[in-house]
Amino acid sequence: ATETLRDSYGRPVTNLRISLTSRCNLSCIYCHAEGEKNPATEMSTDEIIAIMNVAAKFGIRSIKFTGGEPLIRPDILDIIRAVPVGIESSVTTNGILLADMAYDLKTAGLRRVNVSLDSLNPETYKRITGCDCLNNVLAGIDAALRAGLTPVKLNMVILSGINDNEIDDFLDYVRDNRNLVLQLIELMHFKDCDYHGDLKGVEAMLASRSSGILTRRMHHRKKYCLDGAEVEVVRPLHNTEFCAYCNRLRVTSDGKLKPCLLRTDNHLSIRGTKGAELESLFRKAVEQREPFFK
Ligand code: 5AD
Repeated sequence: ATETLRDSYGRPVTNLRISLTSRCNLSCIYCHAEGEKNPATEMSTDEIIAIMNVAAKFGIRSIKFTGGEPLIRPDILDIIRAVPVGIESSVTTNGILLADMAYDLKTAGLRRVNVSLDSLNPETYKRITGCDCLNNVLAGIDAALRAGLTPVKLNMVILSGINDNEIDDFLDYVRDNRNLVLQLIELMHFKDCDYHGDLKGVEAMLASRSSGILTRRMHHRKKYCLDGAEVEVVRPLHNTEFCAYCNRLRVTSDGKLKPCLLRTDNHLSIRGTKGAELESLFRKAVEQREPFFK
């Protein structure tokens, strides 16, 4: 029998995000690197599997693997194969290695992918990521679609003055492909940078051009439909619903439970723990969860 954990605000935790590494094959100008700095202390395959098994016991329904770039871990397929039955898994990737790996990821049991893609213009892509490899990512997206890792969600972080003129190009790109969803993401400034844009204007534009607006049950996030293009907007800093409906618990690549995306002062190390001890730390992390914006 499983038991769903709830925090003291009544929010159930059903979703686990595990950072597999802080290493990345890109160096994006805005990256928050999930707040991690030390690549020397990555969790082992077994540590990750132990966490997933505890998650299954506590009724976690989905696990997302993040990074850094999770596909650079040599044991990525072993990790995906070890996802407990009944838990749906996905990966957030920059897509560089996806063309070669999509089929194997699907066969290993992965359900779908999010691909970080901030520009459809090769030069702008290079300016943002430091890598002249837009075509690899586009090939990766095609491969993921063919492999059935769907829906493929495209994460576009809006960088004002850099890519905010490309929203229509992205709408065209996802239009009429029912397996592609566009997610427009508000920049969080973990590094000093001037590209932050409030997505309010973008939301108003989407609303005015939408044929239908749905509210997704998960997170109460709005989903806009613009003749054939499906778009979601993620505004962690300007949306109290982001916290009110948060159902996530995070694990950093160096083995700490992280109860809130926006805080770094309440991490709980699970290094060297297993069994009952790991379970009780998991409970404790959930108990410590509180909305950042109330
Ligand atoms: N602000 C918002 N989103 C970010 N990401 C990385 N850094 C930031 C930031 N500073 C998101 C991107 C990427 C995912 C892995 O993390 O959307 O797709």
